[in-house]
Amino acid sequence: MAYLIGPDTERMTHRVFTTADAESAFALNSDPYVMRYTGDTPLTSVDDARRFIADYPDFDEVGYGRWACVLKETQTIIGFCGLKYLPDLDEVDIGFRLLRRFWGRGLATEACIACNSFGFDTIGLKRIVAFVMPENVASIRVLEKAGMQCDGEFDYDGIPTIRFATTKSGSG
Ligand SMILES: CC(C)(COP(=O)(O)OP(=O)(O)OC[C@H]1O[C@@H](n2cnc3c(N)ncnc32)[C@H](O)[C@@H]1OP(=O)(O)O)[C@@H](O)C(=O)NCCC(=O)NCCS
Repeated sequence: MAYLIGPDTERMTHRVFTTADAESAFALNSDPYVMRYTGDTPLTSVDDARRFIADYPDFDEVGYGRWACVLKETQTIIGFCGLKYLPDLDEVDIGFRLLRRFWGRGLATEACIACNSFGFDTIGLKRIVAFVMPENVASIRVLEKAGMQCDGEFDYDGIPTIRFATTKSGSG
């Protein structure tokens, strides 16, 4: 499967993580404050981050996944945003996570809008969903600003979430 390079936005490029990005991935995924509403366990070492990247299956399986968000201004990785195929639900999910010092600048919204458009226009998806814990107000706001609509409550592996959805035409 050919890997798709993610979308280009005003302030960011999106690309596949490589094991050379392990330090950045560790900085992002080891911060308990960043991780608190994600349902994921914080990583405890750079080696774990390197293994996670090396074993990440999505790009091999479907050609897309969570891309590294690279700030054009500095060429640094500031987080990830991207699309994940969920075989159990037969849905594609948008997810994002940024280093704390980059919060509050509209970057997640910029990335989310671009990745959703990429999903519809380049990958040919019909619908994109997101699962968010009700207390994650910043994430909910990003999804709303990206034009996604509440699609009801959803128990995600025992975690109560709200499902958001959008379709190519822009409706939930
Ligand atoms: C969610 C996250 C990616 C948002 O990134 P960001 O770049 O700061 O997002 P944006 O700047 O594009 O938009 C954030 C919006 O939430 C609002 N917001 C942030 N914190 C808020 C709070 N505590 N209460 C109310 N609104 C809040 C901001 O004001 C902004 O809305 P506005 O533009 O209407 O003012 C970032 O907080 C993050 O990485 N969180 C941890 C990981 C995570 O939870 N990911 C999502 C899992 S579903």
